[in-house]
Amino acid sequence: MFTLLWATLSSITTLAPSTPFFPPPNESSFVAHDHLAIQKSWGVYSPFHAIENYTPPPPGCEVTQVNILHRHGARLPSDSQTNDILPGVQKLQSVPVYTDSRLDFLKAFDYTLDQELLVPLGAIQSFGSGKTAFGRYASLISEGEPPFVRASGMSRVVESANNWTAGFAAASRGIYTPRLDVILSEEGNDTLQDHNCPNAAGSHREMREWLSIWSPSIVARLNAWAPGANLVEEDIHGLAMLCAFHTVSLVQYGYEDGSPLPFSPFCSLFTSDEFEAFEYSCDIDKYYSTGYGGRLGRVQGVGYVNELLARLTHTPVQDHTSTNRTLDADPATFPLNRTVYADFTHDSVLIAVFNTLGLYPTPKLSTKRPDPKRKWRAGEMMSFSTRMVVEKLVCEHRFSSQEDYIRIMVNEDVQPLEFCGAPIKGLGWAQEYARNNGEGDWEKCFVE
Ligand SMILES: *[C@@H]1O[C@H](CO)[C@@H](O)[C@H](O)[C@H]1NC(C)=O
Ligand SMILES: *[C@@H]1O[C@H](CO)[C@@H](O)[C@H](O)[C@H]1NC(C)=O
Ligand SMILES: *[C@@H]1O[C@H](CO)[C@@H](O)[C@H](O)[C@H]1NC(C)=O
Ligand SMILES: *[C@@H]1O[C@H](CO)[C@@H](O)[C@H](O)[C@H]1NC(C)=O
Ligand SMILES: *[C@@H]1O[C@H](CO)[C@@H](O)[C@H](O)[C@H]1NC(C)=O
Repeated sequence: MFTLLWATLSSITTLAPSTPFFPPPNESSFVAHDHLAIQKSWGVYSPFHAIENYTPPPPGCEVTQVNILHRHGARLPSDSQTNDILPGVQKLQSVPVYTDSRLDFLKAFDYTLDQELLVPLGAIQSFGSGKTAFGRYASLISEGEPPFVRASGMSRVVESANNWTAGFAAASRGIYTPRLDVILSEEGNDTLQDHNCPNAAGSHREMREWLSIWSPSIVARLNAWAPGANLVEEDIHGLAMLCAFHTVSLVQYGYEDGSPLPFSPFCSLFTSDEFEAFEYSCDIDKYYSTGYGGRLGRVQGVGYVNELLARLTHTPVQDHTSTNRTLDADPATFPLNRTVYADFTHDSVLIAVFNTLGLYPTPKLSTKRPDPKRKWRAGEMMSFSTRMVVEKLVCEHRFSSQEDYIRIMVNEDVQPLEFCGAPIKGLGWAQEYARNNGEGDWEKCFVE
């Protein structure tokens, strides 16, 4: 069998902690807010931003197939996030007199955010992604061979997929009008939904540990600004999230992707260092749920990876985990002869797939002190509208005829993989774990 990329994980040593993470805030660290930098430190709640410019294939290579795994666009808070956000807002609003004018906006503020739904910014960024895909891969498609598109059944995911196909069609000036071919019900097992594994661990304990380090100074400050509010540590996480959710909700249709975003007044309650601490909280969350630190995280990416292998090798899906065998055996719902595939999903699924593939190898994340050199950064790996693109390339070989290669980009960042440049038949990635259906881990999702 092939070498597993996992082997590299254990050989990476933890870097020694450096200076204290938290310099005490001063007035200039609020005033000097660099809005764009701050938006990038909202972790999984960051609006889409490319990490690099797209790198064209190396000379002598040509893209022959593309697989895009796409997170839905920017959304409103979920049910449970709303429960984390509201108490802090209510406590602050219950205070009659603020000692700092940064809270004055709350006197007229009405919390009206709906839940779960895609916001216009999310639609605009998904549309933009469809345009980009057409611009890059137009030569791969034809009228009889449009992109094949699937989405997990939640409304924000379905809408993001529809916005992507609309962007693709618009960029082709209406010549190609791909449609959303399959909506996978989130009731059954499905490789694109994020609650396939009932026994999987959450990251609550680890996030709580980190919260007890980064939030107390903010609790003290905001309680001084709002005497009697009695905010507690949990409220701080909610208020920082609200800065992101409120900001993305303020964007209206007509916004040009890439231009500066409106800025929620909740954001001015924090310094940029504090947003970095909040970002780390998102890093920890993802790492200890479907990332490398999560019990039964990796197995949740196996179904999609087996579908990917099927497409790359033009052979039927072999999987006994989260795939829907009925749909995947039918060329109408899982064709193997297309050139562009786009699948719309959730962040936890993308993280699980990174985990299965061995992307962003990262040793145990400390819950006490972030490593400033870590690769694992939710804002880069997992912003709203994140896209992992797997390109299959055919390259002229110097000695033999031609060979197939693959490369993977996440938000345009080409992943430095051991198998990069390796012929497809010798992929050095986690084929064994995927081919073996998670080596018993899938069953552990259901039975204790
Ligand atoms: C205030 O904080 C900023 C950001 O942490 C720092 O760069 C700056 O040196 C600090 N200024 C003073 C006067 O302490
Ligand atoms: C792909 O396969 C399907 C079903 O086998 C067939 O109907 C279709 O024409 C094929 N498309 C291409 C582009 O080869
Ligand atoms: C996104 O999709 C929704 C519903 O599918 C639609 O109402 C909206 O106009 C679309 N927006 C864009 C930018 O495509
Ligand atoms: C597979 O998908 C079909 C069509 O959506 C559905 O009827 C069926 O229940 C699914 N099977 C499983 C095991 O989830
Ligand atoms: C999903 O798969 C597991 C294990 O194979 C099975 O026990 C469960 O019933 C499936 N769920 C659905 C809705 O089909």
